[in-house]
Amino acid sequence: MGTQLEPYVAAVEAAMLDALQAPSPEVEPLYGAMRYHLGWADDHFRPVRAPRGKRVRPLFCLLSCQAVGGDWRAAVPLAAGLELVHNFSLIHDDIEDKSALRRHRPAVWAQWGVPQAINIGDAMFSLARLTVHWLAAQGTPAEIVLAALQRLEETSLALCRGQYLDMAFETQAEVSLARYLEMIDGKTAALLACAAETGALLGAGLAGPHASFRRFGRELGLAFQIVDDLLGIWGEPAITGKPAAADVRSRKKTLPILHALQVLGARGEGELARLMAQPALDEGDVAAAIRCIEAAGAREHAAAMAEQHTQQGLAALEQAVPPSPARRALRDLALRLVGRDR
Ligand code: IPE
Ligand code: IPE
Ligand code: MG
Ligand code: MG
Repeated sequence: MGTQLEPYVAAVEAAMLDALQAPSPEVEPLYGAMRYHLGWADDHFRPVRAPRGKRVRPLFCLLSCQAVGGDWRAAVPLAAGLELVHNFSLIHDDIEDKSALRRHRPAVWAQWGVPQAINIGDAMFSLARLTVHWLAAQGTPAEIVLAALQRLEETSLALCRGQYLDMAFETQAEVSLARYLEMIDGKTAALLACAAETGALLGAGLAGPHASFRRFGRELGLAFQIVDDLLGIWGEPAITGKPAAADVRSRKKTLPILHALQVLGARGEGELARLMAQPALDEGDVAAAIRCIEAAGAREHAAAMAEQHTQQGLAALEQAVPPSPARRALRDLALRLVGRDR
């Protein structure tokens, strides 16, 4: 089996596509918009091959299931459900962040308006949980399905707590590192932790090493979000599919920015604090803010923190299960995730 991931992705995509078929022609645009977001349809719902995302959460789930000795095929509905939860959260996140671009194309709200986008996201969230219920029909014991669904609901709530903090921080001058970690723990790490944990749960049951997989997913999730923060300032638009320095422009309290504010003084006369308090930034302001952030050593600081969380996550994985092709694939995937250049 090794590290060939295409069969895993293909199985998850087939399950998601199954879930996204409209039950009647009248509601085809609702399902079509979901397929659009997932990269399978254009804005007229015609089949297309558009960017689809990295499918990290389903891969974490399936490889974790296999790494504990389970059959990954049995976990496919769960993996599909996790990816649908992730994508539901992105549809709503783009509304919340007023981000008009997602994966190089107009965000769902930019295409069909905010009211429909809210509903399209809600529909995807329900379909996500329904897809996980397929596990029972395919032979997974009910108590395992129930445990996985409980973890998924707790995770969805943690995600909303993280998104709450993320938005609340936009209007706060000072955000501590501890509060920032609490925020990314919710908005990003929780779902990666859930993916690894529930995959292991399906593979080895309630007495298996699912708690260690949860730690692995969480640490990698923290590292992943910190890398995403770095890309939000220094990422290449052609690769990220988002405008340059988008997080500076929107004055988001990402790790490099909050660290620079701490180093340079958030309340003082510092140029960065002044810029971050402005209602809008022009091109010159953005460039000046980035110079301040770089001068504070915030880029290196964030990169070092991402590395630290990555190592902690990999250590949890290595302690949890003996070496195997699936464990190696999980480790390779995790390293690609945090070293990713998009
Ligand atoms: C984007 O997640 C949002 C974050 C949690 C950082 P991904 O980078 O996993 O998104 P896709 O699905 O691959 O586009
Ligand atoms: C990602 O939030 C987390 C969720 C979608 C819950 P961000 O706002 O940081 O992610 P991007 O940069 O838009 O993908
Ligand atoms: Mg966003
Ligand atoms: Mg956001």
